Amino acid sequence: MSKELDNKSVILTGGATLFGAAVARKIVDAGAKLAIVDINEEACNRVAQDLGESTLCYPIDITDDLALEKLVGDVNDSFGGIHAVVNLACSYADSGAESTRDEWLSTLNVNVVSMARLGFYARPYLAASGRGAMVNLTSISANVAQTGRWTYPVSKAAIVQLTRNMAMDYAADSIRVNSVSPGWTWSAIMDSLSNGNRAKTDAVAAAFHLTKRVADPQEVAEVIVFLCSDRASIVTGADWAADGGYSAMGPEQATPAIPLLMK
Ligand SMILES: NC(=O)c1ccc[n+]([C@@H]2O[C@H](COP(=O)([O-])OP(=O)(O)OC[C@H]3O[C@@H](n4cnc5c(N)ncnc54)[C@H](O)[C@@H]3O)[C@@H](O)[C@H]2O)c1
Repeated sequence: MSKELDNKSVILTGGATLFGAAVARKIVDAGAKLAIVDINEEACNRVAQDLGESTLCYPIDITDDLALEKLVGDVNDSFGGIHAVVNLACSYADSGAESTRDEWLSTLNVNVVSMARLGFYARPYLAASGRGAMVNLTSISANVAQTGRWTYPVSKAAIVQLTRNMAMDYAADSIRVNSVSPGWTWSAIMDSLSNGNRAKTDAVAAAFHLTKRVADPQEVAEVIVFLCSDRASIVTGADWAADGGYSAMGPEQATPAIPLLMK
């Protein structure tokens, strides 16, 4: 039986983390050859090894243009082409209103500029594939204010716009570009903050996700794989919510407010 990403090769940044590894697994299970790009060399190698022969690890810093330029050439040589790029790597560094210029530039550099630069270097290869795709990870943080957070949400909002710009200009090369906005997702940061307590994490998330829990990274990965695949051939320039209904909910949350007037 054919699979969604058979005969394709995919670059995934940030694939060494809990979330990224789940996305990596889904991409490989969908039939693709995979290049995992992550600054965490040890974890990157471990994930690539677990996934077997069809996966290679490239332990580079995505803020390094020379490394990105070399990366796309190397992946093309190893896999005979590049069909999709998934930009998942991120920095959560954020000092809110106190963020220094260096902190601003650093977060924007990792989260936004590196996506644009990897797109620039990958474009000729994606174009040569005839049906290229890019998927950029943004967040529900792109659309709401969160206490004490400035640089990360601003970077995520910029990614939604960057995605539209890329989709506009890359359409000339038949490359589709979309973004995915997860809500709270079981990930390294949730694991660490909750001391590995998934039930507690779900309970905290319940008030602001219609699904009353955090997402599994595999559930977000399903959306990413779909957007990389030819099944999404009519989809470009769009931001896909994979957020358990977080963005559909208003300030009244999911409890009836009108009856409170009648009490
Ligand atoms: N975790 C969530 O609940 C959540 C919610 C919404 C959106 N997201 C988005 O999903 C994506 C993954 O989130 P996560 O929580 O797994 O993040 P994470 O911090 O656990 O993982 C990010 C990965 O990026 C890598 N990375 C960071 N800087 C790099 C650099 N300069 N060069 C190469 N690699 C680098 C890290 O080593 C790490 O493996 C992010 O784009 C994030 O914004 C996450």
